[in-house]
Amino acid sequence: TRPRTWPVQLEGSDVDGSGLCLRRDAPLCPDWSADVGCSLLRLGLLGKIKRMMMVLLFVYVSIPFIIKLFPSIQAKLVFLNFVRVPYFIDLKRPLDQGLNHTHNLYLEPEAGLKIGVWHTVPAQMWRDAQDKDGNWYRSTFSSAHPVILYLHGNAGTRGGDHRVQLYKVLSSLGYHVVTFDYRGWGDSDGSPSERGMTSDALFIYDWLRQRMEKTLPLYIWGYLCETHTRPETHTHTLKHTHTP
Ligand SMILES: *[C@@H]1O[C@H](CO)[C@@H](O)[C@H](O)[C@H]1NC(C)=O
Repeated sequence: TRPRTWPVQLEGSDVDGSGLCLRRDAPLCPDWSADVGCSLLRLGLLGKIKRMMMVLLFVYVSIPFIIKLFPSIQAKLVFLNFVRVPYFIDLKRPLDQGLNHTHNLYLEPEAGLKIGVWHTVPAQMWRDAQDKDGNWYRSTFSSAHPVILYLHGNAGTRGGDHRVQLYKVLSSLGYHVVTFDYRGWGDSDGSPSERGMTSDALFIYDWLRQRMEKTLPLYIWGYLCETHTRPETHTHTLKHTHTP
């Protein structure tokens, strides 16, 4: 005998494509009760999906209000300074990241506020750099190698993996790479703010300028939210700025 088919008057014509029931003429439900059950199941699922969509819509619409109501959340979302990837790294030990020619130091852009800095010397100096202290590293600024001041983007620290890979490339090209965590990032004191980022970057810039050979270029490499905070007043000294 012919297998039972879907009753057209019960199912309507949109059964196809729902993924739940097969084509109208497919022998899926062998008797009448299964037909009804199948159709009820479809309606129940549709109801659930509708409810879920309403919840998602509500969450989607309320996010801007929540952010507006709580500016601290907004600041966190913009600066992402609480994101530390990788989390368990000791910023005092750049050697752990494979940087055997990098010195970790702390500078004070404001009294009582310390920010963490890494100074990587050009890779060809790595042998000389073994077991050297801050004085030796500072003295290398007077060598004939240009300096790149690396301003990292929001989220993460100066020890972020992709950043470390970039320091290695830049130092292997013969540059000093100086990078730091703005106040509120990494192991630096304070909390993040646009003003703080600007003044920290300017502070390091001036600190470097005082120690470098005056004729040597100081390049600034910045990302994302740093593009509007880079030291505009010093653009005449910028030889090149890379801001993807
Ligand atoms: C130290 O770092 C330099 C530059 O990245 C690298 O060429 C060298 O192999 C490293 N030396 C050791 C012992 O890891």
